[in-house]
Amino acid sequence: MSQKTPRNFFKPLAIGAPEPMRDLPVKIERMIHFVPPHLDKVRAKVPDMAPKVDVILANLEDAIPADAKDAARAGAIEMANMYDWQGKGTGFWSRVNPLNSPWFQDDVSELVLKAGHQLDVIMLPKVEGPWDIHFADQYVAQLEAKAGLTRPILFHAILETAQGMSLVEEIALASPRMQGISLGPADLAADRKMKTTRVGGGHPFYRVLEDPHADGSERASVQQDLWHYTIARMVDACRMAGINAFYGPFGDISDLDACEQQFRNAFLLGCAGAWSLHPNQIDIAKRVFSPDPDEVKFARRILEAMPDGTGVAMLDGKMQDDATWKQAKVIADLADLVAA
Ligand code: GLV
Ligand code: MG
Repeated sequence: MSQKTPRNFFKPLAIGAPEPMRDLPVKIERMIHFVPPHLDKVRAKVPDMAPKVDVILANLEDAIPADAKDAARAGAIEMANMYDWQGKGTGFWSRVNPLNSPWFQDDVSELVLKAGHQLDVIMLPKVEGPWDIHFADQYVAQLEAKAGLTRPILFHAILETAQGMSLVEEIALASPRMQGISLGPADLAADRKMKTTRVGGGHPFYRVLEDPHADGSERASVQQDLWHYTIARMVDACRMAGINAFYGPFGDISDLDACEQQFRNAFLLGCAGAWSLHPNQIDIAKRVFSPDPDEVKFARRILEAMPDGTGVAMLDGKMQDDATWKQAKVIADLADLVAA
């Protein structure tokens, strides 16, 4: 399955040109809701939870203790078979352990052989380069053939090492199975030797100080976004390859305002969704990663004012042209997808 060209190998340059070629349906994936599958009580809630989220993910990697890895894998397979994921449209994903861990081979083989017909996406953590994707691609192809699956299982890479970050474009292009990439701010912070114990979000010490005032009055100090560069680079890599970028986890479950702000920054920069680690974060993701109704109204006015997408129009004193028509289309298309 490996190929070096993006799945969307051409983009519409002119009006009337076809939409980018996609061999997969475009899905709404505003929140990837993480579930620890070894816990019976949590697993029992999955059928109720499934209709409320875009994606449920059975987590086998970090946060699952080493002595619960087998139970988590068995729980993930049970989860796959306790809901009609394919029929009802909620995505069913699993985050497996890293390729060089003692669990990867069993995670992937059991998931594909016993639950492959329900599994949409395998999330691959700590991806360092395209070679990791190539290896997993061939391994999954063997298992899919053995299981007689006809629908390909897709891959989602987590960007959480400096090495992976440096090769993000190659990772995004590594296989037609690539569905998207998430930022993994905790592992990435550790690997980069960033001095923070937080999982995503801002840091009170990461600031810029205003220049000194002539009158000696106190200088304002403004907190900056620690993740701006990383998210922007990840978004460029993903969109170049025709796949989606995702923010990842926001660890302070008690700070809903900060979570919302981080998710919104990611949305504005181009991300399609984020992880929800707690039910509290589901509604935040749903709200933030759906377009704002006023923006949608304005976007639709732009599309109506320029039916063929060319020329120039003035709306509320703001100039519109072919480029703003494309911006409006991004928002209107997302609104249609959310409404579908
Ligand atoms: C997620 O896996 C992270 O490391 O932030
Ligand atoms: Mg991680």
